[in-house]
Amino acid sequence: MKRSLIVLLVSSILISACVNPYKNSQNMVSDYLIIPKPQSLEISQGRFLITPQTKISGTSDLENEGQYLASFLTLTTKMNIPFVTQSSGTIELKIDKNIKEDEGYILLVTSDKILISGKNSTGVFYGIQTLKQLLPASLETGKTSTNKITIPAVTIKDNPRFSYRGMHLDVGRHIFPVSFIKKYIDLIALHKMNTLHWHLTEDQGWRIEIKKYPKLTEVGSKRYGTITGHFHQETGNDETEYGGFYTQEEVKDIVKYATQRHITVIPEIELPGHASAAIASYTFLSCFPDEPTFVTNNMGSKAGKEAQAKGSSKIVQETWGVFDDVFCAGNEKTFTFLEDVLAEIIPLFPSEYVHIGGDECPKSNWQRCPACQKRIKDNKLADEHELQSYFIQRIEKYLNTKGKKIIGWDEILEGGLAPNATVMSWRGEKGGIEAAKQHHNVIMTPGTHCYFDKYQVDKQDYAKEPLAIGGFISVEKVYSYDPTPDALTAEEKKYILGAQGNVWTEYMDTTNYVEYMVLPRMSALSEVVWTPKENKNWNDFKFRLNTMKVLYDALGVNYAKHVFETKKDNTP
Ligand code: ACM
Ligand code: ZN
Repeated sequence: MKRSLIVLLVSSILISACVNPYKNSQNMVSDYLIIPKPQSLEISQGRFLITPQTKISGTSDLENEGQYLASFLTLTTKMNIPFVTQSSGTIELKIDKNIKEDEGYILLVTSDKILISGKNSTGVFYGIQTLKQLLPASLETGKTSTNKITIPAVTIKDNPRFSYRGMHLDVGRHIFPVSFIKKYIDLIALHKMNTLHWHLTEDQGWRIEIKKYPKLTEVGSKRYGTITGHFHQETGNDETEYGGFYTQEEVKDIVKYATQRHITVIPEIELPGHASAAIASYTFLSCFPDEPTFVTNNMGSKAGKEAQAKGSSKIVQETWGVFDDVFCAGNEKTFTFLEDVLAEIIPLFPSEYVHIGGDECPKSNWQRCPACQKRIKDNKLADEHELQSYFIQRIEKYLNTKGKKIIGWDEILEGGLAPNATVMSWRGEKGGIEAAKQHHNVIMTPGTHCYFDKYQVDKQDYAKEPLAIGGFISVEKVYSYDPTPDALTAEEKKYILGAQGNVWTEYMDTTNYVEYMVLPRMSALSEVVWTPKENKNWNDFKFRLNTMKVLYDALGVNYAKHVFETKKDNTP
């Protein structure tokens, strides 16, 4: 009995060790189509064969990454591929302090073994992402029937160009289920991007539970209807109540999911503008609590108008745009409210940053509000722009005392930048350049290259696409972007932390549509923020993008298919 067990054991070891018919396979360039393109990649002969004997091993500080890879391989190969910390596996994960570059990794694949070494666990995670892209895309469907799952031999040394590699998502205009936020996070991870900028509050909806202010979600998360057609050419109002919000438990779950994938979630709480939903919930936040909400082109819903007629002067906005009703900067209660809200936000998000908005805040209410004017006078401020700066600086001071830093849209430059603020440059690069020259950190998100709410075709073909905000940003345009403008010196360029794709969802009312707008532009952006400028090549990228398309299909994500229906020049 004992002898037969030993024979069985020895033969299974021999099978796993020797019977790899792919030991001498010749691989081709097309076996290594990775996005974003790694820093260096050396092709070798042979392929690693995944078998039921394959095990992943690593130290306990890589448990999260090991379990991530183990569940992926177990689910997709239908073999039980465990992560073990006690013995050595044929796939080994390791922290290697000799790797100097932040988030760097080395992936070594031979026909016998795979070794993923990272400077830290983040590096190891990115090595795993690359490994996943070397596997057949069909695996991702979970329906593959082959038992010949192989990985081509290679040595890859890799690390990112920028430390901030972000994707934004507006859930104010339209909200999406927790399952979709996780799918979005998985897409971010697939592209080795590392930040989800979660735009949680808007004129059209407040989307996060705040226990101290329950009306923010009871009232502020719902609107009575939504305009139909394009803003300024509305065709009507759908007269349908629309709403939703994330509970704090859901937020914790999402943040945990993101953290396991080395993604930081930065919450955005918009102030002092884009505040209509908060004001509808607590009217004292307005300079003029009794003035009714302005309804553009009389396109408000019947229910909204009835509510106003009955005395609810403020309603959650039903159309898009910029609204004059903003947080009153003269009322102390506004600051108490915002600090209370932020006090609940801070423990939910481990991120070092909170995004405080700062964009598109009209000054017309402040100009006619006695409390705001008194604030200007008492603080010897020059004008309403300096009042905005006062507002942002007060919020920054509060957040700094809680160990957080602020990011704001580039309008926070107007009236003077808060001392420790990071600027997100969206109205072109001008604000980013100015902030970098003032030695402030910058994230580039210019509307010329990084706004994924714009069309993916030129004007004459708008009608062929779903309704979008307007403007045209092709994948090639995104790909061409360099976040470090020539106007900056080498020293000043160091303040550019990276770039981000923005996804404003006025017209994106389904997850399918969000995916369509994001892909493949996000794949192009991932290479902008990861790959050294000198390694980028549009034709080479386009060639690799064809493999990414197979992966999108296998993952069941939507994308702009027409982008692939182009001329025959898809070769490197
Ligand atoms: C913005 O697009 N309003 C930042
Ligand atoms: Zn006021």
